[in-house]
Amino acid sequence: MTATRHGHYGIDAPHVLYGLAAAALGATAATLIALTAYDTFNAAFAAIAVVFALMTCSYLWTTRRGKFAVWSELLDGLALRGEERVLDVGCGRGAVLLLAAQRLAQGQAVGIDLWSAKDQSGNNERATLRNAELEGVRERVTLLTADMRALPFPDCSFDVVTSSLAIHNIVGAAQRERALAEILRVLKPGGTALIADIGHSRAYRRFLAAQPGTLVERRALGWRFWYGGPHVATSLVSVMRTSGAD
Ligand SMILES: C[S@@+](CC[C@H](N)C(=O)[O-])C[C@H]1O[C@@H](n2cnc3c(N)ncnc32)[C@H](O)[C@@H]1O
Repeated sequence: MTATRHGHYGIDAPHVLYGLAAAALGATAATLIALTAYDTFNAAFAAIAVVFALMTCSYLWTTRRGKFAVWSELLDGLALRGEERVLDVGCGRGAVLLLAAQRLAQGQAVGIDLWSAKDQSGNNERATLRNAELEGVRERVTLLTADMRALPFPDCSFDVVTSSLAIHNIVGAAQRERALAEILRVLKPGGTALIADIGHSRAYRRFLAAQPGTLVERRALGWRFWYGGPHVATSLVSVMRTSGAD
């Protein structure tokens, strides 16, 4: 299911995009100056300009288009009945939360966040609520301001938990494990958590697989989810909490 988006979802970690674009422009300027002032084609400057321009394009594509396409497929793969309770951890302006809400005719999509504008441009609760209205799912969406290391929900309260590009923002492996443990805690037996992230996905898989009653898989999500290139690729860690968890 791919629907036209009506909301405004900002840019993930905008300072990174600006850094890549500045490097591309700087190297382009250096190439042109060498050419016009010294009559020299500097292949190194030109190569740097091309590489950073490609990285800028990759980053922009992922944050504006790619992650939506990948998450649409991931959510479709869950074959939701439409009455589930879904929690999106670190929902930001609602990219994944609202895709989930569109698949919940009678269910509820709950998003929690601390609304860091460093992690996503224009990130705040009002922007996410506005997006929920624009996507026509406002009545199925609940937002809460909360830290993912202390989720304000009882045990076993969600059928599905999603998290996209959020957990890596927490500093320290032990702190990230607290967030993972919270995700498992609020997941119902038989429920599934889908965690897409850069950087620490192998550690997530190790930690989650070591917890009782979990079936865990990890896989790369491909070029549509590269933040600048294959060196910043997003991986998916999927966890099923088996009914024997308790
Ligand atoms: C790169 S944004 C991704 C947002 C959204 N998941 C998406 O894919 O568009 C990362 C989000 O994680 C949130 N975040 C960072 N640390 C958090 C924490 N400890 N608890 C809850 N949210 C957090 C940020 O505020 C931000 O909204």
